Amino acid sequence: MADWTDCLNFGLSVVRQTKEIILSAFDQQKSVKLKSSPADLVTETDQRVEKILISTIQNQYPEHRFIGEESVAAGERLQLTESPTWIIDPIDGTVNFVHRFPFVAISIAFAVNKQTEFGIVYSCVDDKMFYAQRGRGAFLNQTQLHVSAQEDVDQCVVVTEIGAERDDIALSTMTSNILRLLKLPVHGVRALGTAAVSMCQVATGAADIYYHIGMHCWDIAASALIVQEAGGVVMDTDGSEFDMMSRRVLAASSATVAGRIYPFIRAFPCQRDDDG
Ligand code: IPD
Repeated sequence: MADWTDCLNFGLSVVRQTKEIILSAFDQQKSVKLKSSPADLVTETDQRVEKILISTIQNQYPEHRFIGEESVAAGERLQLTESPTWIIDPIDGTVNFVHRFPFVAISIAFAVNKQTEFGIVYSCVDDKMFYAQRGRGAFLNQTQLHVSAQEDVDQCVVVTEIGAERDDIALSTMTSNILRLLKLPVHGVRALGTAAVSMCQVATGAADIYYHIGMHCWDIAASALIVQEAGGVVMDTDGSEFDMMSRRVLAASSATVAGRIYPFIRAFPCQRDDDG
């Protein structure tokens, strides 16, 4: 079995170097452009960070492939093959970044044969490096992560968000999901504005459930592995097997909690990431 530890360590070092670009731009005025909706934004920093990440990694591993949020937005075809592939979100939480709301992350997953081998989520403002390697556990900085032992859905904290899709069906689906969960009742519903960091809260045990519909593979591929390696479960919001291209995800502290919550979550139709 191939050992991808060198690639993981290289990824961690590249993220540590690149974070300064995000931090130094954080308090500055940004030039913002809209992408697919009024809540889907891009700044020069997103584009710059993605270019630097890809060129630095490509220099070291010229045979590897890349899926990058801003490269896809610029028209590159999104295709996950069997080849070693780095799946990159240069700034997860771009709306937060624009507003200086202090949750933004670099998210990098590395997949081989379409299976995630490691994931890195660096939460820049609070300097938290989450990472996991398949079969080797999940960590926050040097500390191993474990999901909460929560099995009772009534006592769960759920992290979710409305997301960037703003048509009527998406909005009514997402808001009615929150209403159903609040009436279960769960202990609380929270929203951070970055799918990657939100999912990592399940890995730390601070939250018990995360779900989202409409995000993309680069938002959740790394944190899905981090949750699994912390002992949690990751699935589709309909209870079927997790598929990073499906644009639906449910992460939970246990199979019991996941099984109890998914019947309350409805999805709206969205085009698969790899269907284009
Ligand atoms: C977004 C964030 C947000 C989620 C959106 C994503 P971006 O990613 O993860 O939390 O609700 O669905 O698109 O655009 O900031 O990289």
